[in-house]
Amino acid sequence: MSKKPPPEKPIIHNGLLQTDELYKYLLETNVYPREPEPLKELRALTASHPWAVMGTAPDAGQMIGMLLKLVGAKKAIEIGVFTGYSFLLTALTIPDDGKIVAIDMDRESYEIGRPIFKKAGVEHKIEFIESQALPALDKILENLEIMEMVRAHNSDIWWLWVVMVVVDDWWW
Ligand SMILES: C[S@@+](CC[C@H](N)C(=O)[O-])C[C@H]1O[C@@H](n2cnc3c(N)ncnc32)[C@H](O)[C@@H]1O
Repeated sequence: MSKKPPPEKPIIHNGLLQTDELYKYLLETNVYPREPEPLKELRALTASHPWAVMGTAPDAGQMIGMLLKLVGAKKAIEIGVFTGYSFLLTALTIPDDGKIVAIDMDRESYEIGRPIFKKAGVEHKIEFIESQALPALDKILENLEIMEMVRAHNSDIWWLWVVMVVVDDWWW
């Protein structure tokens, strides 16, 4: 008896976008035209990385940018930088005297994006801490009073990806 091949797994569209075609259409007509050049460049550079799928999607990035503007964020902490899409996006969005501190134990991926951060003219706003998140956060949190926004994506216990945007007056 011949064995039937397993049925192909359907792509599950449980959000607002019901088809791949619609998602592609929205990217091409709305998202890519609004994406700043340095982010386009970083996305292209990251595409060949074996873990490219970890990068923030450009549509999600624009949502983050909108939230940053809505809360008037000036200072941000990012945990989980990878090659730096959301890191650069935040640096580009906050004002010129703002600051983003980013923590990641993997410097190698951060170094991929670094020349683009430099070219984008945001170096004065960024700080990278090469560390496991918790000890670095412990240091930072000693001074932390208000966190206006926390974005988290924890698919398992060690997979920590959080952005915290701080809009009060303290600094470390
Ligand atoms: C999903 S990627 C982050 C994507 C990134 N925000 C972007 O826009 O491309 C997750 C990152 O979290 C880092 N990471 C995972 N666990 C960590 C931990 N415990 N401490 C510090 N970094 C961690 C990984 O090295 C990886 O670079």
